Amino acid sequence: MKAAIIGYGKMGREIERILRERGHEIGLIVDQANAGELDAAHLAGIDVALEFTTPATAYDNIRTCLECGVAVVSGTTGWTDRLAELQELCRERGGAMFYASNYCLGVNLMFRLNRQLAALVGRVGGGYEVRIEEVHHTQKKDAPSGTAITLAEGIIENLPSKRGWVNFAPGIAHATNRVERSEDTPADRIEIRSVREGMVPGIHTVTYESEDDILELRHEIKNRRTLAQGAVVAAEFLCGKRGVYGMDDLLK
Ligand SMILES: NC(=O)c1ccc[n+]([C@@H]2O[C@H](COP(=O)([O-])OP(=O)(O)OC[C@H]3O[C@@H](n4cnc5c(N)ncnc54)[C@H](O)[C@@H]3O)[C@@H](O)[C@H]2O)c1
Repeated sequence: MKAAIIGYGKMGREIERILRERGHEIGLIVDQANAGELDAAHLAGIDVALEFTTPATAYDNIRTCLECGVAVVSGTTGWTDRLAELQELCRERGGAMFYASNYCLGVNLMFRLNRQLAALVGRVGGGYEVRIEEVHHTQKKDAPSGTAITLAEGIIENLPSKRGWVNFAPGIAHATNRVERSEDTPADRIEIRSVREGMVPGIHTVTYESEDDILELRHEIKNRRTLAQGAVVAAEFLCGKRGVYGMDDLLK
């Protein structure tokens, strides 16, 4: 497989290591300084591009790949209100695209357990209130994390009492806060609390609390390797395919 790396930051560098370990060729590396090289000429002969950049640049980068007929795997978070638009473009053009808010296998197992647990709680009742907490390093640009949003969506699809989420992110200047204080969270919204500290790669906790007990689903990433490996496996899966894919397709 001949790959392009778009975004040569923490994830891009880890992806480069995994691509080399798995015997793939890297035909192009694009970062902010040479962003102009993301064009048809430089993408010629590339099988798959792996895009991990910023919320402000992901849409245009993915669009360019699709317009140049190059399959693209993206994991950039914080921009996905426009994801459906690109998925539609991909289908129209007969291209290939893979998106996941989290490429770690364990997190994707947690996504499944989270949906099942929400459905069970919906069935049994028990007076449980649900909340989500995500903890990440201080350089993370978006809040809440894409993973926390996927967890919230999984609960909303399966727990009739919840119809949306709000982000409670104390101390995050650039957070997309929907409410200022925890007490403001309406009963039909899931509160997502975002915490930024140190070098934490990612901790996600879904908590159900009743008057009598606390039930938690918790996942902690120990390093970025698992994320980069998942993205490279997704690129291998996408290579030679057409269509729109996500982790559920890969795990099947
Ligand atoms: N889906 C997942 O599993 C997963 C895992 C980790 C990180 N992420 C997300 O991936 C993104 C990148 O994470 P990171 O930790 O590597 O961040 P990072 O800040 O270390 O790297 C981002 C890189 O993108 C570069 N960049 C900026 N504009 C660009 C442009 N126009 N073209 C090309 N490159 C450009 C920056 O210079 C930087 O090197 C974030 O949105 C993060 O939340 C997703």
